[in-house]
Amino acid sequence: MDHIKRRAFLGMAGACAGAAWAHGRRAGASRSLAPGDDHRGPAVIASGNGRPATSRAYQMIMDGHDPVDAVVAGVNTVESDPNDMSVGYGGLPNEDGVVQLDASVMHGPTHKAGAVAAIENIKNPASVALLVLKRTDHVLIVGEGAKRFALAHGFKEENLLTDRAREAWLRWKYNANPNDDWLDYDQMDFQIQQEGAAREIPYTYGTINCSGVNEAGDLASVTTTSGLSYKIPGRVGDSPIVGAGMFCDNAVGAAGATGRGEAVIQNCGAFSVVREMENGLSPTEACLKVMKRIADRTKQKRLLNERGEPNFNVVLYALRKDGAYGSAVMRGDRSFAVTTSEGTRLEKCMPLFE
Ligand code: GLY
Repeated sequence: MDHIKRRAFLGMAGACAGAAWAHGRRAGASRSLAPGDDHRGPAVIASGNGRPATSRAYQMIMDGHDPVDAVVAGVNTVESDPNDMSVGYGGLPNEDGVVQLDASVMHGPTHKAGAVAAIENIKNPASVALLVLKRTDHVLIVGEGAKRFALAHGFKEENLLTDRAREAWLRWKYNANPNDDWLDYDQMDFQIQQEGAAREIPYTYGTINCSGVNEAGDLASVTTTSGLSYKIPGRVGDSPIVGAGMFCDNAVGAAGATGRGEAVIQNCGAFSVVREMENGLSPTEACLKVMKRIADRTKQKRLLNERGEPNFNVVLYALRKDGAYGSAVMRGDRSFAVTTSEGTRLEKCMPLFE
C-alpha cells in the first residue's frame, strides 16, 4: 500500500491495532504500510531537503564512522547551502532580520544528547550541538552562551543573512503592519510594484532531520533549523528540544520532526514515535499514530480548517533499529530522503489527511 487515506487509517486503527494501542499493550507484529517498513539493514533517512545529507551520512556509516558523526556531517552540507532558506547559512531570519538557529543531536549507544538554541552567527549549529554532547555534562545551551561555547571550540563568527534571505525579510517587513511607516506593496509607487516575483514572501517552518543506523543496529539522529520565519526573537521551536524535534533510543529506533514546532513540542513528537515503535508499530504506523494524536489534540479554532483538521503541516520520520523506516505528513504530497544499499532517492510520506 503506497497511499493511505485518513478514513482507511482510522479504520485500521480501530479495527486492527487500536485495541492494543488503547490498552498500552504490544500490538505484536507490525504492519507494513509502505516499502520502507520492510527494509532491513543500514539506512539513513531525512526530510525532503536532505538527499545530500543521507548520501553523505550513509557513505560515512559504511566507511565505519559512528552514526552520530555521520548524520551531523550529513546535515552540515545542508546547513552550509545558501540556497536552503530553512536551515543554517541562508536561513530566513527572525522579525529583527537576525538568523537564529536551533539544533539537537542524540547518540544511541550512549543515550547522550546535545543541543543549542537561538544561536547566532555560527553556520553549523548541529556540529555545536554535537560538541555539547561530546564535551560537556549539559544537554542544551542557548543564545549568547551557545555562541561563546562555539567560538571557544574554534567555530568562526560570520553573518548568516544572505542577500536573498535579507530581501525576503524586507518584503515581509513592508507588509507586516499596515500602520507603520514602511509602505505596503499596494502603497508603493516605485519599482518593487513592477517586480512581480519580488512580491512573493517565502515563509517556512522548514528544517532538516536526519537519522541513521549501521549494520550493528547503532543509531543516531540530528535536527537543525533556522526555525519559523520572521519569528519573535528568542523563539525556540521543536528542533533543539530532545524528544520533540528528534529522539533516539538504541534499543528501539530514532525519530524526528519538521513543520510546526509548537504542535510537535506539545505532543512530544519524536519521543512518541519511538515509543509507538517500541509498542510494536511499524515506522510508518508509528508516524501516522502520532500524527493523528497531534491532529486530535489541536483545539484552537485558529489552527483548524472548516473540516476541523489542523490547518498547518507537520512531517514525522522514523527509523527502526533493524533498518525499517517510514514517514507521515499531516496533509499533502510530501517526500522524504532515503539512502540504503539501493542508493539515494525520495520516497512518499504517508498523508493523514487528503
Ligand atoms: N520545526 C521547526 C520549527 O518549528 O522551528
